[in-house]
Amino acid sequence: MDVLEAIYTRRSIRKFSGEPVSDQDLEAVFRAGFHAPSAHNGQPWEFVIIKDKNKFDEIAKVHPYAKMLPQAEVCIIVCGDKNKQTMTGLLIEDCSAAIENILLAAHGLGLGAVWCGLYPITQLTKKIKKVCSLPNNIIPVGMVVLGQKGEEKKTADRYDATKLHYEGW
Ligand SMILES: Cc1cc2nc3c(=O)[nH]c(=O)nc-3n(C[C@H](O)[C@H](O)[C@H](O)COP(=O)(O)O)c2cc1C
Repeated sequence: MDVLEAIYTRRSIRKFSGEPVSDQDLEAVFRAGFHAPSAHNGQPWEFVIIKDKNKFDEIAKVHPYAKMLPQAEVCIIVCGDKNKQTMTGLLIEDCSAAIENILLAAHGLGLGAVWCGLYPITQLTKKIKKVCSLPNNIIPVGMVVLGQKGEEKKTADRYDATKLHYEGW
């Protein structure tokens, strides 16, 4: 898929067919995450891959907007390593770039995915840290819930010329 087509047609998919996702597709998705830009090229991300349905249920119980999780195949918890990027703002931006790359790669491969926020909601990050046994220096930034699509969504044109401010506001 052409890169602009991928960007313009990507949508959050919250219904999944239950068909498996191949290891080859998953590797391509991770590779896309690793290729994201990062401040000072610090690449401070770590990806925790969850496929265990019991863990899905545990997370879905506490996450108010991740009720689609038990129907998905894979949950990628995108984490940031505070030891690799000490400025939290930059750490979150780096990991967010990785998440977007992952979403676009998933879409390009014909998979469905949705970004579910974690940071800075303490109640959620605490729970994820426990479920995934994360060390203290690792912040769970967001999760990508992934699977074979169980719904199709139309693209929406969001171009808004009123939000373009040339040479200043
Ligand atoms: C930081 C962030 C957190 C999000 N958290 C959730 C979430 O918890 N649950 C969910 O279903 N969607 C979540 N989304 C997806 C947005 O709802 C979605 O991107 C937005 O409605 C636009 O729709 P689209 O992705 O189909 O273009 C999140 C997106 C971002 C960027």
